[in-house]
Amino acid sequence: MSRRPSLPHPAATVLAVVLSAGLLAACSGGAPEPSPSTSAATVSPTLTPTPSPTPTEEAPPTSPTTPAFDKAARSVDDPASLWVVSDKLRALDPVDYVPGDLVTPDVAHQNPPTLRAEAAAAVVEMFRAGEAEGAGAFQVQSAYRSYDTQVSVYAGWVQRLGQAQADAQSARPGFSEHQTGLALDISPVPLSCALQACFGDTPQGQWLAANAWRFGFLLRYPADKVAVTGFTFEPWHFRYVGVPLATEMHDTGVTTLEEFFGLPAAPDYAG
Ligand code: DAL
Ligand code: ZN
Repeated sequence: MSRRPSLPHPAATVLAVVLSAGLLAACSGGAPEPSPSTSAATVSPTLTPTPSPTPTEEAPPTSPTTPAFDKAARSVDDPASLWVVSDKLRALDPVDYVPGDLVTPDVAHQNPPTLRAEAAAAVVEMFRAGEAEGAGAFQVQSAYRSYDTQVSVYAGWVQRLGQAQADAQSARPGFSEHQTGLALDISPVPLSCALQACFGDTPQGQWLAANAWRFGFLLRYPADKVAVTGFTFEPWHFRYVGVPLATEMHDTGVTTLEEFFGLPAAPDYAG
């Protein structure tokens, strides 16, 4: 004899109605409405849906809020400030500024590098992390350059390329971030694509583009911001601004100091 599926027990049907009414009410945010066809007497108390908590006028619990980033916390004009903005419209002041705390980090290099102490410590940490995270080895191509050094670097480019092309890739003396002791050019070990766009395709260049912010550095001349920075894409040039600012720029997706601080774009020199 075949067994027919048994019909649901009436109490089970009632329970299903009660439960689905409660669920719907909970999903729509209100308290479950009791069904007129059910009562505490017909449903076991242990199966009665738990009513939603009664809404109150109290404010919902809040998570601790992070204070807004203070863009005025440091100067963008003082050449000794970690946030100084140097571009074609913003010469260093004084023009022959020399940082007071230059040190030589213990890193591989093409030319003996000096940087301001905080940037030097950060670059050591960054190179170590990059290598540990599989990007290969790094070296410093060029770091602090005095006003006088920039005179000869810039003159060399002008001689080689003419002034218009030199201006697209080398700052005039008194306008270079290298003079702040906070900027450096990075190459892979073994040396390849030194100061060339193809550095951006090397494991080192890719790792730096994605991770330099963690160590307080900024890829200062992005490919899509030539009209803002005035310089062609330099995937090798990193500028130390400190971890808080680098993190804020990373998190907000703003890639140039000019845009972040609301400063004018600097495609050309004023004169
Ligand atoms: N190459 C960068 C723009 C400099 O000369 O400072
Ligand atoms: Zn550079």
